[in-house]
Order: sequence, then C-alpha cells, then structure tokens
Amino acid sequence: MEVYEAMRSAPTTRAFAPDPVPAQLLRRVLDNARFAPSGGNRQGWRVVVVQDPDTRRALRDLYQPHWRAYMQRTGGAALLADPKALDPASARRLQAADAFAERLHDVPVHLVVCVALSELAIVDTGLDRPSIVGGASIYPFVQNILLGLRAEGLGAALTTLLTPAEPEVKRLLSIPDDVALAAYVLVGRRSTPWPERLARRPVESFAFAERYGQALT
Ligand SMILES: Cc1cc2nc3c(=O)[nH]c(=O)nc-3n(C[C@H](O)[C@H](O)[C@H](O)COP(=O)(O)O)c2cc1C
Repeated sequence: MEVYEAMRSAPTTRAFAPDPVPAQLLRRVLDNARFAPSGGNRQGWRVVVVQDPDTRRALRDLYQPHWRAYMQRTGGAALLADPKALDPASARRLQAADAFAERLHDVPVHLVVCVALSELAIVDTGLDRPSIVGGASIYPFVQNILLGLRAEGLGAALTTLLTPAEPEVKRLLSIPDDVALAAYVLVGRRSTPWPERLARRPVESFAFAERYGQALT
C-alpha cells in the first residue's frame, strides 16, 4: 500500500473477526516498525505480543475499569444511556467503543507496547507544564505498527487506558521495573468494511506560516 494511502485510511478498528493473525505477518510489521526514529536512536521500545486467551481476558479485566471511569469522567456514560443527545454517527462510535471494551478479550492479538525508561531522552522536564517529549521516543514506533498493519490489511486500535493499571500489567506479563507501559494495541482482521474516509480537520486549521495563527497559503 502506498504510504499516503495508509496514512489516510488507518482508522481505529473496534470490531474484529476472531481469526488468528499469522505470526510471520506480525513479525514483518515489527521488523519494519523498528525503523522509527527515537531520541538519540536509543530504540527503547519493547513489545509483549499476547495471544493466549487467559492472558487476553486478564488484560481486558484490567482495561475495563479504567474505560468505565473514563466514560464517567467525560460524560460518555450519560450519553450512552441517552444516545438521542448525539448525532447518529457519534452515538454509533460511542457504542462501538463501549462494546469493544466489553469484548476486548475476543481480539486475537494484544500488543502491549512498553519503553525502557533509561532509553528515553526527555528534554522538557524543566518546563511548567506536563512533559511531552518522552513519548516522542515511543509513539513514532507505535504509529509505524499501525501503518504496517494497515498496509497488511489488518485493523488495529491504539489505546492507552491500560496504562493506569501498569503495576498489575507488569506483574501479569513479567515486565521489569524500569520498563513502562506506553500503549495497548489490539490487532486483528476487521469484521466490518473499512470506512471511506476518516474525520480529520483540514491543514488550514493547524498549520501556520511564519507565526502561529498566520494563514499558510
Ligand atoms: C493517545 C491515544 C489514546 C487512545 N486511547 C484509546 C482508548 O483507551 N480506548 C479506545 O477505544 N480508543 C483510544 N484511542 C483511539 C481514539 O479514540 C481514535 O484515534 C480517535 O477517536 C480517532 O478515531 P478514528 O481513527 O477511527 O477516526 C486513543 C488514541 C490515541 C492517539
């Protein structure tokens, strides 16, 4: 698949077919994703590929309470109870995300993406705001995985609501102390067609010329 086409057509998949994903395919995706950039080329990524049904269920049980709490916090739970308050497409998306959290263990492959903390180049800790730069050494790798999976015709969901359960996940998967959770990526064949286009804002809304706020022509 051509790179721009993959970039424009890799949605969050939340409905998966149960078929297993070939091991060779997963390896090929990881073998290409590893060419991602990272601060100082430290390549701190680590990935635990989980396919065992009991472990998948245990991960789902760790994800689910944080999904529920997120839904409460953001008003999603109230909207789910009264979806008429939403336009039909948004209501469908919310229902799909909720059903996905419920049936997460059915997704054939769970990638627990971690990063070795000692390999992170974090240069913005001195600022009076949350640090962002540490993530820049792991998320390009995650995005490469998403694009690689898309090019292979597989669906994926990038999620982060497993990270609040990091201590339990680390115990479950024998992840060492100095390695942190960065993302939880669910992978498999889509059970619904690929969407025709993704909802994203146009370039004019975020790109500027010379000064922030000045239109880029
Ligand atoms: C940093 C990050 C965290 C996310 N966490 C979750 C999550 O925990 N659960 C989930 O269902 N989707 C999660 N998503 C998926 C987003 O909801 C999704 O990318 C966005 O709604 C766009 O959806 P689309 O790609 O299908 O258009 C996350 C995405 C990102 C980039």
